[in-house]
Amino acid sequence: MNKKTVRDIDVKGKKVLVRCDFNVPMKDGAITDDKRIVGALPTIEYLLEQGAKVILCSHMGKPHAVLTESFGLTKKEKAKVEALPEGEREAAKKAMLEKAAKEDPVKLTLKPVADRLNELLGNKVTFATDIIGEDAKAKVAALTEGKAVLLENVRFDARETKNDPAFAKELASLAEAYVNDAFGAAHRAHASTAGVTEFIPGVSGFLIEKELTVMGEALENPARPFIAILGGAKVSDKIGVINNLIEKVDTLIIGGGMAYTFFAALGNTVGTSICEEDKLDLAKELMAKARAKGVNFLIPVDNIIGREYKEDTTFMRIYSDSIPDGWMGLDIGKTTQELYAKTIEGAGTVIWNGPMGVSEWENFAGGTTAVAEAIAKSGAISIIGGGDSAAAVKKLGYADKMTHISTGGGASLEFLEGKVLPGIDCLQDK
Ligand code: 3PG
Repeated sequence: MNKKTVRDIDVKGKKVLVRCDFNVPMKDGAITDDKRIVGALPTIEYLLEQGAKVILCSHMGKPHAVLTESFGLTKKEKAKVEALPEGEREAAKKAMLEKAAKEDPVKLTLKPVADRLNELLGNKVTFATDIIGEDAKAKVAALTEGKAVLLENVRFDARETKNDPAFAKELASLAEAYVNDAFGAAHRAHASTAGVTEFIPGVSGFLIEKELTVMGEALENPARPFIAILGGAKVSDKIGVINNLIEKVDTLIIGGGMAYTFFAALGNTVGTSICEEDKLDLAKELMAKARAKGVNFLIPVDNIIGREYKEDTTFMRIYSDSIPDGWMGLDIGKTTQELYAKTIEGAGTVIWNGPMGVSEWENFAGGTTAVAEAIAKSGAISIIGGGDSAAAVKKLGYADKMTHISTGGGASLEFLEGKVLPGIDCLQDK
């Protein structure tokens, strides 16, 4: 990696602002997966050992104070609003946002993260109830060497996601140096992920260094055969990745809902499966590009199809590429599982992003499980990106069999697309 890291700067006695991605899943106020917190520990521990005064910050979720301006309603809320008669929509939207604005500061506080950090680090972290307010300033002023403070959710200030210079300046003024270790948020050009480097010098933490080194090496100098497995609902979400990876891989394996857009592009019927009609030409182009480059492009040869998009829907397996009317593809079939597993068996490097079917429903989780199992057994260098595939690997107990499970969802996808990540671009070059 060509960016400076924490090793390249002297931090003893200095106040260091560290951006982490503590956007962890929560249920009823409790953290359900602390992978991102654990992933940030090497950098935090290093800085504490070096005698830095550590100021930790992160976002959590998409608080509605911000939603109103930058993100809009969540998917679920949008669907609810759209189901209402036209005349009632505006009022419903307003009520939803007002309700969420009251709930979010409670739901999306980083206090549980501070508690978890204290369990992991042995009570070295205080918690500030604001970001750049009185409490934060007082707790930063009280910091001694080897101690840390965690600021409240940076997205509680709507200026964070707008990368507002005044907000970035105030945040930066708390510290003398900046470390970005939030790989999961590195694709965002926000005040705490990029803007602060206009005011204080920035270097990367160990997590970002590790993510970039492992994924960069796989892309630039892969052990071959190099296989990419891409799943998930939509081709449109993965166009950039497919395009970039076609240039580099030997085999591209397709699963998940997006397989049906490729089916349709080949002239097959897809029933009521997810199919992006406006992406058929693109799907054809991608397949033609793969052919021209000599890339083995695999799509399912059999499918598990269901009547409805429901966990307990009637389902069956069909061999044909063509899905009958009134049925939808919900997972890859047994023969495809075997074919994919056989291909993965001989891999030198595997990159996997996106489930093969509706993996959260038992009847349609077989494809995702089979792929996870095959990667675990393959002995290949394995890189798992994206929330659902990472969750599947963990749930099945294969996490320690993988070379690298990325802590980034959107960020790892953008990296695999070959995009410049603003949270990394802004750091000092070596
Ligand atoms: C993630 O969960 O992928 C990161 O924390 C980024 O979150 P965001 O999509 O809300 O910016």
